[in-house]
Amino acid sequence: MPSVITQPVAARLTHAAIFLVVTLKPNTQCNEPVRALCGDLASLLRAIGFRNPDRRLSCVMGVGSVAWDRLFGRPRPADLHPFREIKGEHHAVSTPGDILFHIRATHMDLCFELATQIMSRIGDVVTTVDEVHGFKYFDERDLLGFVDGTENPVDQDALDATIIGDEDPTFAGGSYVIVQKYLHDLKAWNAVPVEQQEGIIGRKKLSDIELDDAAKPAYAHNVLTTIEESGEQLEIVRDNMPFGEVGKGEFGTFFIGYARSPARIEQMLVNMFVGRPPGNYDRLLDFSKAVTGTLFFVPSATFLANVPAAPSPDSSPVAEGETAGVPESYRPSSDGSLGIGSLKGESA
Ligand code: HEM
Repeated sequence: MPSVITQPVAARLTHAAIFLVVTLKPNTQCNEPVRALCGDLASLLRAIGFRNPDRRLSCVMGVGSVAWDRLFGRPRPADLHPFREIKGEHHAVSTPGDILFHIRATHMDLCFELATQIMSRIGDVVTTVDEVHGFKYFDERDLLGFVDGTENPVDQDALDATIIGDEDPTFAGGSYVIVQKYLHDLKAWNAVPVEQQEGIIGRKKLSDIELDDAAKPAYAHNVLTTIEESGEQLEIVRDNMPFGEVGKGEFGTFFIGYARSPARIEQMLVNMFVGRPPGNYDRLLDFSKAVTGTLFFVPSATFLANVPAAPSPDSSPVAEGETAGVPESYRPSSDGSLGIGSLKGESA
């Protein structure tokens, strides 16, 4: 039995990234080039990445809830649904997106080349709804001036936080990802005294040292985004990137969070936007407006590699229990298992 290879959701953070969110055009003929790309993605990555392996090119492809039915039919990943907007002290909007490409490398040239090659395959059948070119700002800082990513789990902890296991055996090796594009009011933020900013984030600005629990306000970002279940902390992997256009006065953070269940990211968002308890919301949001919000499922690399290029008889939604769009080789065996020998992270 083959083992399942994951997409590189827990890859090491890089200094350049392109976040490409596209929607499929309505005609069902538009499905085919996208399905063909699923199978070709790994070889495209090899062709571009191999020219400069030190630059660690990687790509994660995610599929939205509606697009999943169109492209693959049943079965569906257990927790896949459209991003649910949150209206609390602040508003987390839900915006369209069928496919996400999260392209990372240490340098933008590789990201740009891969994005170009991807769009040369599917550009005619999709509409780009958002394209953000992200960069790291000095020592891993966001544009608010704080180091961003410190408490991310790494290595096995990152895989444990992000990769689906027995809870959804058909889609073991997959993951979920939520993206949100935030625009900052930097003028207002920079007028806030540094000590107060540190209270909002829960860490020291220059040294990045975490504030003592006693010194943290209840609304500190790292208090509200720390969640537990049965005494265990529930973690996610983030790879936020600054972006902006100085001429337009646009300064932002592209939030991207991976988890083995979207519920953990959603809980963090409720804590931030509504507050824990309600009203005790994340003050970061007084200076940062979420202008997009989309949820995607990240199938395993094995799943993508086995999507047949030729159309299934009909990739429209199929009856419960059928497996129309899912490649034969990926279907679970009668005992429901995938015969997973190991869940490996892939570096490209
Ligand atoms: C921590 C920035 C949005 C989840 C942090 C830290 C910074 C930061 C500076 C502290 C350093 C670190 O551990 O990385 C931002 C900015 C955001 C944003 C600028 C958008 C404007 C979000 C969102 C979520 C989130 C939307 C989840 C839904 C977390 C988590 C931590 C964290 C889980 C680590 C908490 C801990 O264990 O200490 N963020 N963040 N962040 N953030 Fe965010």
